[in-house]
Amino acid sequence: MTFSREEFVGAMRRFPGAANIITTGTGDSRAGFTATACISLTADPPQVGVAVNRTVSSYPQLVENGYFCINTLASDQLELASRFSGPIKGAQRFLEGKWTELKTGAPVLEGAVVNLDCKVTNRLELSTHTLFVGEVVAARQAIDAKQLLYVDGDWASLLPATGRDVAGVMDGIHTVTSAVERASRLSDDPLANLEAFVKEWTKIYTTTEAVTQKYMSAKLYVSPIDLQALNAAGREFDDRLTALLAQGVEAGCLEAADPRLTAYAISGLVGWIHRWYRPDGRLSPEEIGQYLAVLVRKMVSCSDKTETSGSRTGVI
Ligand SMILES: Cc1cc2nc3c(=O)[nH]c(=O)nc-3n(C[C@H](O)[C@H](O)[C@H](O)COP(=O)(O)O)c2cc1C
Repeated sequence: MTFSREEFVGAMRRFPGAANIITTGTGDSRAGFTATACISLTADPPQVGVAVNRTVSSYPQLVENGYFCINTLASDQLELASRFSGPIKGAQRFLEGKWTELKTGAPVLEGAVVNLDCKVTNRLELSTHTLFVGEVVAARQAIDAKQLLYVDGDWASLLPATGRDVAGVMDGIHTVTSAVERASRLSDDPLANLEAFVKEWTKIYTTTEAVTQKYMSAKLYVSPIDLQALNAAGREFDDRLTALLAQGVEAGCLEAADPRLTAYAISGLVGWIHRWYRPDGRLSPEEIGQYLAVLVRKMVSCSDKTETSGSRTGVI
């Protein structure tokens, strides 16, 4: 009986891990990366372990410095988990987050659930990885913070949604539902109404944290009853947007072979823009809204009917 690599990787995906950022170095030679392979080893002396792939760019610094800090991320620090495993490298990774230090000088992240400042006491070579054993020489905790988890290839939070969180998300859904209702009565031109709505929707989604970051990215635990209510509100929004599209189809001024599917496609386009949007970023919410409105117009415009008519029935 053989046990394949795929089976192992599949089993490990089910294995929940806390998301940590391992840091070392100071100033411009700071380095760090996201890691789930962290383990508590012994209490006497206080020792922890981190398994580090030797291809990770911070590896040489970890060896050379002989110290590191394990920063266990809180659920509102999801962006940092991506930043420290993405294309931005070296000290640039530390331009986000508030960093300080404890004893060794390794970067210590403010607001993290736990910071474990460690001196390397041992290194164990394990094929592709090195297990760094560290003695904890200083530690800090943010008592109220909740851990960010990584499980099934996705981020998860232990943070239960409060009544206020659920109300905030519900408010957000109601806000976009009334915006689509309002937009459908704006003028006699359903295409112009749709564009106006896309602009407003983009503005709402890029500026309302409750509807976007908190609920969707951090995946708060929502009770089944609340989830049912949120899903029902979400469906009502889908119905309204579908109705707006159907209105345009009926009037012959926009083309959507299947208005509901088109509504979902537009939701995909606008609804996830917050993942990319940054308040200090390159484009303002108005510019993004304008851009998306043009894209949506192109999606449903009748102007290129002759090109698409041949394949129309095959598409949906
Ligand atoms: C959720 C997650 C967990 C990870 N855990 C580990 C880990 O435990 N050990 C490790 O060596 N790399 C781990 N990585 C990969 C490193 O973060 C990633 O390879 C590294 O940051 C990218 O390489 P670079 O630092 O050289 O740019 C993990 C990545 C993610 C997204």
